[in-house]
Amino acid sequence: MKDQPVGIFDSGIGGLTVAQAITKVLPLEQIVYFGDTAHLPYGDKSTAAIQAYAVKICDLLIRQRCKVILIACNSASAAAYELVKEYVGSKAKVLNVIEPTIAFVGEQYPGRTVGLIGTKQTVNSDVYRRKLDELNKGVVLRSVATPLLAAMIEEGFFNDSISESVINAYLSDPELQGIEALILACTHYPLIKKQIELYFEGRVDVLDASQIVAGHVKNFLDQQGLAAEQRAGDHKFYVSDFTRSFEESTRIFFKRQVHLEHFPLWE
Ligand code: DGL
Repeated sequence: MKDQPVGIFDSGIGGLTVAQAITKVLPLEQIVYFGDTAHLPYGDKSTAAIQAYAVKICDLLIRQRCKVILIACNSASAAAYELVKEYVGSKAKVLNVIEPTIAFVGEQYPGRTVGLIGTKQTVNSDVYRRKLDELNKGVVLRSVATPLLAAMIEEGFFNDSISESVINAYLSDPELQGIEALILACTHYPLIKKQIELYFEGRVDVLDASQIVAGHVKNFLDQQGLAAEQRAGDHKFYVSDFTRSFEESTRIFFKRQVHLEHFPLWE
């Protein structure tokens, strides 16, 4: 099983930030990535719709013999993790991006006030608050939905004055006053981490979940005896809707250009 690939999926190409972090800490793993670009953004979709997409994607990743499926999207982790875990059963292990981040925050910020930004689906699901409360570490969570940010980044607006204005408008929300750390609860946001840090001028720790999640996947594979001992093949990248601009953007998210294959989900 060790030589089987790690499956990763997201609503689009944002999850490539997590895939990229994983290739850094686990260079021997072969990755099969699926970006559901036909249904992007997930952040505004209903829970039922996201669950239906996630199940279809898992069928593909299981056919690709993935040993582990990582839901590299907060919106899909919030809406579909429990269902997907049940659906996949013993065919693969299923991981999400929320639990490792919760564990990290519980350990590093007990009794402190922590902010969170993410899509409407992620924030309205309240999953971070529920899971933090279950940990009982006294973390006070202040969440703000920031639905424009993922679309803005996909359109190439980051590290510029437009993204600065949008980021400043969201982060000046009174709900985020007095926080000591901020969870970037969307896999697109590592691309605007620097601008967010600039906004807070060092007063707030900005938590890049992609690195936390990559570390968690590494520990998980090691503990389960599933880590690859040699590279079994090239990474594969599938999208449910193909445009040249998606392929061009992969370089920004994955830090190198990749070849996207078109795989329609509903045929
Ligand atoms: N990458 C998704 C997430 O982490 C956000 C983009 C979307 O709304 O599809 O929540």
